[in-house]
Amino acid sequence: MLNNTDYKNLGFECRETHANYISYFKDGSWDQGTLKKDSCLTISAFSTCLHYGQEAFEGLKAYRRKDGKIQLFRPNDNAKRMQRSCKRLLMPEVSIEKFIDACEQVVKANEDLVPPYGTGATLYLRPFIIGVGDNLGVRPAKEYIFSVICSPVGSYFKGGLAPNNFMITTNDRAAPNGTGSYKVGGNYAASLWSHHIAKENGYADCIYLDPLTHTKIDEVGAANFFGITKDNKFITPKSSSILESITRKSLMHLAEKELGMEVIEGEVFVDKLDMFTEAGACGTAAVISPIGRIDYEDKKYTFYSETEVGPVTRKLYDMLTGIQYGDVEGPVGWVHLIK
Ligand code: PLP
Ligand code: COI
Repeated sequence: MLNNTDYKNLGFECRETHANYISYFKDGSWDQGTLKKDSCLTISAFSTCLHYGQEAFEGLKAYRRKDGKIQLFRPNDNAKRMQRSCKRLLMPEVSIEKFIDACEQVVKANEDLVPPYGTGATLYLRPFIIGVGDNLGVRPAKEYIFSVICSPVGSYFKGGLAPNNFMITTNDRAAPNGTGSYKVGGNYAASLWSHHIAKENGYADCIYLDPLTHTKIDEVGAANFFGITKDNKFITPKSSSILESITRKSLMHLAEKELGMEVIEGEVFVDKLDMFTEAGACGTAAVISPIGRIDYEDKKYTFYSETEVGPVTRKLYDMLTGIQYGDVEGPVGWVHLIK
């Protein structure tokens, strides 16, 4: 355990850990992989990841349960999503077994750094794959590194369950038929400018519109959007340029099966935001962050409250985190206990 750590107020930053995992792909296959102590990599300055963004990553968390055991949430889905990203960037896939084994090794090596139950903090795992080796032309690398690094983290958005305000940007993070639905580094480089402008103007982050028509909500920074209507529907954008969030998929299931809500994946027109009584951002890092207000041009859309989480968002948060921390039994296959 980290000494004198205020886990309840831990931000989303890197902290020193004991070990991380690394595996090399050379001559057409992955090596067995190993744990190493420092988080530095030695790679060729000609690596495709440095110049052409040949990089994909994932994010998942290790949760400390009340009984002291540690569990992961839906790691198979992260592994599959990384395979899909690798295909898109012509990188070799990592098998689901290798992905989960690497995550398990990292959690076990940093067991004492998984924050205590009840603090809301977790050990964030960041699996990633990069093209390395000498290469000058724009083409896929011949060699790759797959690594899993980690850090104890708290809330991604300030205040945890306290609502945040967002502004809508007309800059795009991804193109209509581009890589928006893949978890690849280039999308995040493209988002830095709009994020910066939003922060400069006092917002937690920006909300992206669909890049083709700029009329519909796409994503909330590095999280998906959902809204709750007056007649108790859970609505979330259907778009080919957003990342298919594992958290959102889980919330859709819980809203329908546990809360009996009608769940709609559809178009969320930005000029119809007043149909929502509650709205939120969801993701692994964000968990659920209630949206207090969205500003778009000269309009301001306020949801449940700018200071308090709404009742449906609260219920969804309690159910989701209940499963993630092992207090509530979730659907079969959602939880992966570290043995
Ligand atoms: N959208 C983007 C752009 C993200 O980076 C993330 C984070 O992973 C999400 C949405 C949420 O996805 P997930 O719930 O799988 O973490
Ligand atoms: C996650 O939620 O795991 C993410 O990857 C978001 C991140 C870019 C901070």
